[in-house]
Amino acid sequence: MAFTLPKLNYSFEALEPYIDAQTMELHYSKHHQTYLDKFVAALEKYPQLQDQKVEDMLKDLNSIPEDIRMAVRNMGGGYYNHNIFWANLASESKMSPEVEKALLDSFPSIEEFKKEFETKALSLFGSGWTWLVKNPEGKLEIINTSNQDNPISTSDVKLLLALDVWEHAYYLKYQNRRAEYVANWWNVVNWDHIAQNL
Ligand SMILES: [Fe+2]
Repeated sequence: MAFTLPKLNYSFEALEPYIDAQTMELHYSKHHQTYLDKFVAALEKYPQLQDQKVEDMLKDLNSIPEDIRMAVRNMGGGYYNHNIFWANLASESKMSPEVEKALLDSFPSIEEFKKEFETKALSLFGSGWTWLVKNPEGKLEIINTSNQDNPISTSDVKLLLALDVWEHAYYLKYQNRRAEYVANWWNVVNWDHIAQNL
């Protein structure tokens, strides 16, 4: 079976005080694990899908048998989105000149980019994700998706940055203060990961 939880490059405590260890542990070993388990269970009947990449399934959901399409979208999406989310985090990372330039090609300033990203995350009703993506024209854009939907299911974009804005990502430490969670999250963004994906 090809699907496993990714190994984290940092400990659960490493992102303190911005993301607390207890949230990290629950998020990874309970929430993410559950998405993975349910995704794997959905594929049981379809061995031919078990060797496919989750990314390829999400890019072409119409090719997935109808009886498991929603499970692949929700559970496969949950599995894949969290893989990206963990890779987007680091205890220490600096924005490289290359990433700064790419952001300034699409946004008036880094501050404006961050403000727009935060506003977008705060405007998301219910559960979902805020993304920085590179569109087919090479411009960077900020978009929201609901639930565990991924932008690659509806458009041909490259994923650069993913912020989990489900309450399970922040509630223990921040309760209803999503704005504070989002503002603090900038301190643990892995800018190197974005550079690799530009
Ligand atoms: Fe999550």
